[in-house]
Amino acid sequence: MTDVACNTMRAAVLTAPGTFELREVPRPLAGRDEVLIKISRVGICGTDFHIFNGHYAAENLPMIPGHEFTGEVAELGEGVRDLTVGQPVVVDMNIGCGRCFWCRRNEILNCPDMQQMGITMDGAFSEYLAVPARLVIPAPSDIPSEVLALTEPLACVVRCARKANITFGQSVVVLGAGPIGNLHVQLLRTIGAAPIIVADLSEERVQMALDVGADFGVTDPDALESLVRDKTAGRGADVVIESVGLPARYRQATQLIRKGGHIAAFGITGAEEALDLNIVETILQENSIKGSVAGMGQDMHDALTLLAHARIKTDRFTAASFDLEEIQQAFDTLSERPGDLKTQIVI
Ligand SMILES: NC(=O)c1ccc[n+]([C@@H]2O[C@H](COP(=O)([O-])OP(=O)(O)OC[C@H]3O[C@@H](n4cnc5c(N)ncnc54)[C@H](O)[C@@H]3O)[C@@H](O)[C@H]2O)c1
Ligand SMILES: [Zn+2]
Ligand SMILES: [Zn+2]
Repeated sequence: MTDVACNTMRAAVLTAPGTFELREVPRPLAGRDEVLIKISRVGICGTDFHIFNGHYAAENLPMIPGHEFTGEVAELGEGVRDLTVGQPVVVDMNIGCGRCFWCRRNEILNCPDMQQMGITMDGAFSEYLAVPARLVIPAPSDIPSEVLALTEPLACVVRCARKANITFGQSVVVLGAGPIGNLHVQLLRTIGAAPIIVADLSEERVQMALDVGADFGVTDPDALESLVRDKTAGRGADVVIESVGLPARYRQATQLIRKGGHIAAFGITGAEEALDLNIVETILQENSIKGSVAGMGQDMHDALTLLAHARIKTDRFTAASFDLEEIQQAFDTLSERPGDLKTQIVI
């Protein structure tokens, strides 16, 4: 069924929360200015897990999720000139309308009509996906597909560091040493941030973060503030990245930054959660907080470059893989495997 001439393909359709069905579905065609991608690897992201559990994008079911993918060009639609069949690629999942106020400012993630592959439309847990050619990024042919499939999650982290203007010599606290917290730590190490302090309730995850570049780690949230003060000459951190998604951690972040410090708002909380900020303190100390969501455009290019030049240790992210036929098992067992920082589906 993998022959490109065949007009159906295998796909994992999420028919209802908690239930994937392996189906033969029509193989998409590459329309004008589109490229058909033959998918090889797809990572499972926390967002996919939320979709699987019916907590996110439930109105879009039945659908094929999957947005952390890589593959090769299988077919060029009319008008596509600068790509070749067989070329390995990664794909920016965010499709802006191209015409609105935000798209014209390259702030596509705020486009009111933005589509996201695998979230608002069918994605990559399937053999093929047709995507706009402008979102396809050629990848070096010597990078394994399990590494290329990390481009999208790394791009989210790259965007966060860019939005927070993190540079060498800055002290940074990362709240949360999950898959993404671990990527934050590695990027910070590459940038030259120092010291890098990480907090997670899981000893195993803190240890992983220490193994890939964190200088200090704690599992007791109450021990964090004194550690941060101790390692920053009493000032507090230049930057705190919240990568847990809990209002209490955001509140803690306000206590951990130095005067003039910055909170990178990254971990996703419930939609109604609010943060009490002391306004006068924020003004007088010139503190800041800035959101960062997803990775797009240059973030994808930069993430691919970092992976291509081995700036990120990927072994803890590439060890767990399941065939497309086993996708139900992959999702069902996800929370039982905290040591697998990433689970990937092999198509
Ligand atoms: N803004 C973006 O671009 C973007 C992109 C991807 C993910 N996210 C979000 O970033 C967050 C992290 O992603 P992930 O995939 O690593 O999530 P995850 O849920 O796998 O990891 C979160 C980690 O936080 C730890 N944790 C829980 N409570 C804690 C506490 N009180 N103090 C310290 N640590 C605690 C958990 O043990 C876990 O290791 C999530 O909220 C996710 O939705 C945001
Ligand atoms: Zn994702
Ligand atoms: Zn738009």
